[in-house]
Amino acid sequence: MNIRQATVEDLIYIQNCNLLDLPENYQMKYYLYHALSWPQLSFVAEDESGKVVGYVLAKMEEEPSDVPHGHITSLSVMRTYRRLGLAQKLMTQATLQMTQVFGAHYVSLHVRKTNRAAIGLYRDTLKFDVHDIEKKYYADGEDALAMRLNLKEPK
Ligand code: ACO
Repeated sequence: MNIRQATVEDLIYIQNCNLLDLPENYQMKYYLYHALSWPQLSFVAEDESGKVVGYVLAKMEEEPSDVPHGHITSLSVMRTYRRLGLAQKLMTQATLQMTQVFGAHYVSLHVRKTNRAAIGLYRDTLKFDVHDIEKKYYADGEDALAMRLNLKEPK
């Protein structure tokens, strides 16, 4: 298994993983926007044959009203490759680059409040905090936990 920075050629495979694993799907132009704007921040996990089996899609939020911070747009690992530490590695690479390349102060994300696996990863393994609960954030009416990890303090 290998983790590496995502390229434009990977985007079709990233989109495929996303369609299989998550109800939040995006048009190809949104993937391209990430890859072209912040090529340092998105990563893929590939198996021994080079097949993309997971990804993290990430970006920077540079609003004048806030300190620079990163945002995880989407993360998934294909079912048969789960619990191998791939998501943790993908997240660590993306957040490291956010600080090193863009000086991010923190990283944010949204997760469904019933997504036990992802909340376990973010809260217990990566030490994110719940910053807010956004009611009916998702198209089907489910609430989101808005989570944040401070990147300026030692973990
Ligand atoms: N239940 C409880 N805790 C879990 C679970 C689970 N099913 N899966 C992972 N964790 C926690 C554990 O603490 C785990 O450590 P351990 O295996 O030593 O106990 C830790 O997270 C690290 O797990 P990884 O192996 O790195 O996680 P994995 O590669 O399996 O990917 C992911 C986790 C991405 C949530 C995967 O289950 C998945 O793709 N799910 C479907 C898509 C999804 O929900 N994506 C996140 C949506 S939110 C967003 O995109 C911003």
